[in-house]
Amino acid sequence: MATLTNRFREPLPTWTAAIRNEAQEKIVSSIATRACREGDAPAIREILIRFWPFVDVFPQIIRRGCARLIRRELITTQLAKVNRIWDLLSLLILAKSTLSEIERDETDHGRLWVRTMKALGLSNTSLDNPPIPSIGKLTAVVGEHCDPATMFLRFAGVEILAESISETLLQSDRFRATVGTKGLGWFLVHTAHPAPGEESHESLTYRLAFAFQDIPPDQVRVNAIVQEVIDLFVEAGEAIMKLLNSRSLSGISETVKQTESVPWN
Ligand SMILES: [Fe+2]
Ligand SMILES: [Fe+2]
Repeated sequence: MATLTNRFREPLPTWTAAIRNEAQEKIVSSIATRACREGDAPAIREILIRFWPFVDVFPQIIRRGCARLIRRELITTQLAKVNRIWDLLSLLILAKSTLSEIERDETDHGRLWVRTMKALGLSNTSLDNPPIPSIGKLTAVVGEHCDPATMFLRFAGVEILAESISETLLQSDRFRATVGTKGLGWFLVHTAHPAPGEESHESLTYRLAFAFQDIPPDQVRVNAIVQEVIDLFVEAGEAIMKLLNSRSLSGISETVKQTESVPWN
């Protein structure tokens, strides 16, 4: 019988590439991505500011998800399966170390996001805006208390988004010129190839999803869960662009905190 940790190490289904391609098409054609590719500085600033509440909270979502997973698997679900307890413990130890590593990376990525904001001339008060509804919805779905496979597939969706958007935007001369070398760090780390023996966050979260479910991964179900997250990102991007346009059309002074000149720590 395959152990649970062996399940984690099995090759990923080749159809994960199709899921990524479908996501990438939506991301590339989205209105927010197009504005960024054109090097539209106000749009890029608005996107950085509005997505920040999600970027900021993502490491906490991972940490909370990990704690819930351990509690759920050990106490709620698996007590009846005493014969699998050692096998399960091995998988939980592996999951804990994998998630801690991802959480650490995402905390670093948050700092790079802030550096990009700074490179675009934003002050640290631009970190204080509450999430707009579409970002609140995205955060609620990604952080939802649900079964482990769904939780990990949603994390995979976030990873696919981060990697795809970075690949796309780094190809744009206008985007690179607007953001400047100092602001490109977040995008560069999401396109860097993993070191030998390491894997991308996308692969790791897929592995965790498949290891924690007793049924073989099903392409249609996996795709639906990942695309839901991608769609929420695209919708949030559209909402941000609408917000920006309505503000400039009405000539209302900016409500978003971005212009105060408070020094960065
Ligand atoms: Fe990241
Ligand atoms: Fe990541």
